[in-house]
Amino acid sequence: MTPVYPLPSAVTLVDVGPRDGLQNEATVVPAEAKVELVHRLQAAGLREIEVTSYVSPKWVPQMADNHSVMAGIQRAAGVRYAVLTPNLRGFEDALSDKPDEIVVFGAASEAFSQRNINCSIDVSMERFRPVVAAARDHGIKVRGAISCALGCPYQGEVTADEVEHVVRLMKDIGVQHCGVADTIGVGTPAKVQAALERALKHYPVEEVSGHFHDTYGQALANIYASLQLGVHVFDASVGGLGGCPYAKGATGNVATEDVVYMLHGLGIHTGIDLDALVDAGAYISGVIGRPTASRVARALMARRGAAA
Ligand code: HMG
Ligand code: MG
Repeated sequence: MTPVYPLPSAVTLVDVGPRDGLQNEATVVPAEAKVELVHRLQAAGLREIEVTSYVSPKWVPQMADNHSVMAGIQRAAGVRYAVLTPNLRGFEDALSDKPDEIVVFGAASEAFSQRNINCSIDVSMERFRPVVAAARDHGIKVRGAISCALGCPYQGEVTADEVEHVVRLMKDIGVQHCGVADTIGVGTPAKVQAALERALKHYPVEEVSGHFHDTYGQALANIYASLQLGVHVFDASVGGLGGCPYAKGATGNVATEDVVYMLHGLGIHTGIDLDALVDAGAYISGVIGRPTASRVARALMARRGAAA
């Protein structure tokens, strides 16, 4: 039986909207709009923002403006800016933009590793190894993301053993933080706890995080189940933006607004101003011309409309 601890008193949210959210947009979002989104997120109290990725522009054209976006940001004190770097080429490109953190992203399923980064799990680790070493030499923190930890669009079921295998590989090459990612949003609470427990066998609780796409509407329940294990770092995406280009049909990450509302309701500190966050979500929804996917944002905007 999974032990249930008292819920954490504070949670750190990493807004991945500018990267995970926008990477999947078919129409190009101008770099200035991405920069404005980052500014609004930091003004709303986000202290960790995943800004962009240094990947092939042929594979993910939306992130081709990585340098312009990073250069355009007026950095706020105390905010950490993370970027994705799948290989040494990506890391070298990212270095001049001075990220606080880099993310290497592997997968718990071989099939997804091949589709997403064009190599096997073992080869991905050999590509990550020099990236991790170089980042740590430069004093840049390294986060690892394990995609498809709760299920894979190509393989189907993914076991906790498969997750732990990749956790171990990441730990062996010096990755400092382990993100357990439900790329296609199929996980349910007990399965999420089983996957997280494997990460917690190898990483301290402050270095384990959850990244839950909300395709099947399970993400908030999965975050609650994670809180019960003491996990207190989560990725989320303002407005529920996004999806993954290599996981067709998967919707965006859980909306940051929805997570903040739940956490504040539980009396858990986030440092985030929900109203300002809703405004940030409304801003980017306007840019991409789609209504927000956040239930909380819709409810709060309806209430504002009624009060006006
Ligand atoms: P590859 O084809 O295996 O690499 O791609 P390669 O070394 O053979 O190079 C092929 C071409 O890519 C060459 O260019 C390289 O210069 C170029 P060409 O000669 O054809 O003109 N290249 C690069 N260009 C820019 N930046 C680089 C880079 N590396 C090589 N870093 C690679 C390997 C990983 C680059 C490719 O497969 C790729 O870009 N894939 C995209 C992966 C991606 O961004 N996926 C979405 C993000 S992951 C995600 O969303 C999941 C997450 O949110 C967690 C979750 O939800 O699960 C994190
Ligand atoms: Mg994702």
